[in-house]
Amino acid sequence: MLKINGLHVNYGPINALKGISIDIAEGKITAIIGANGSGKSTMLSAISGLIIPDQGEIYYKDTPIQTKPVEERVKRGIAHVMEGRRLFKDQSVHDNLLLGFYFRNSKENKKNMLKQITEVYERFPILGQKKHQLAGTLSGGQQQLLIISMAILSKPRLLLLDEPSLGLAPIVVDQVYQYLDELKAMGVTIIVSEQMAALAMRIADFGYVLERGKIVGKGDVQYLKSMMDSDEMSAVYFGEAKV
Ligand SMILES: Nc1ncnc2c1ncn2[C@@H]1O[C@H](COP(=O)(O)OP(=O)(O)OP(=O)(O)O)[C@@H](O)[C@H]1O
Ligand SMILES: [Mg+2]
Repeated sequence: MLKINGLHVNYGPINALKGISIDIAEGKITAIIGANGSGKSTMLSAISGLIIPDQGEIYYKDTPIQTKPVEERVKRGIAHVMEGRRLFKDQSVHDNLLLGFYFRNSKENKKNMLKQITEVYERFPILGQKKHQLAGTLSGGQQQLLIISMAILSKPRLLLLDEPSLGLAPIVVDQVYQYLDELKAMGVTIIVSEQMAALAMRIADFGYVLERGKIVGKGDVQYLKSMMDSDEMSAVYFGEAKV
């Protein structure tokens, strides 16, 4: 579904990605694991179009997209949940969710809009309880839940999640990850970046380990677990929690 060939991204003199190549299978969950500054966010931003790479190609369903504008990638079904929080803070929770539909073009989807927002409230009751509150008044973790819900409401084909567990209580992380598993069952392809490999490995089918802008390991969960246990890969890359 997504193929990246020899991707280079530089921020001035900093080489954030140094020739990354990856292959993402349709309908699977792929984890991008790496420490701070390894290039996870840069890679996701290059896929969603927030960053135009200096070199290399990104094929989405066999079409090169590396120079296409963000909006066009959104129309093709790519949604990016960014690190940090991007919300309409002066709008209510409910209005933010309505905006989650903004990029939808099918009438069929719009017809079911309120029903789907109600489903979000059922899944994450805290959002339902606070639906008339301004988004900016939610706690960090609640804002993160809202952002993830907005991305999901845009019915993506390819969902990019940058450290979705950041700032969430463990029980909420479980809910979010459970949700991702359900989305996968509905056919959504997911790429999730995490510093905590143990988390991502709970649901990922495949993973890549990124270190200072390079892929240093790739494989299925079994392989990644064996990497975790090896001396080579220090706990730095995998966080403290072991599976
Ligand atoms: N806007 C920018 N300007 C300059 N350098 C940047 C910029 N964004 C990222 N970098 C640098 O590029 C490298 C990769 O950063 P990136 O944010 O992609 O890493 P990351 O794996 O997402 O890290 P984290 O886990 O901390 O989010 C780092 O060395 C970082 O300092
Ligand atoms: Mg990051």
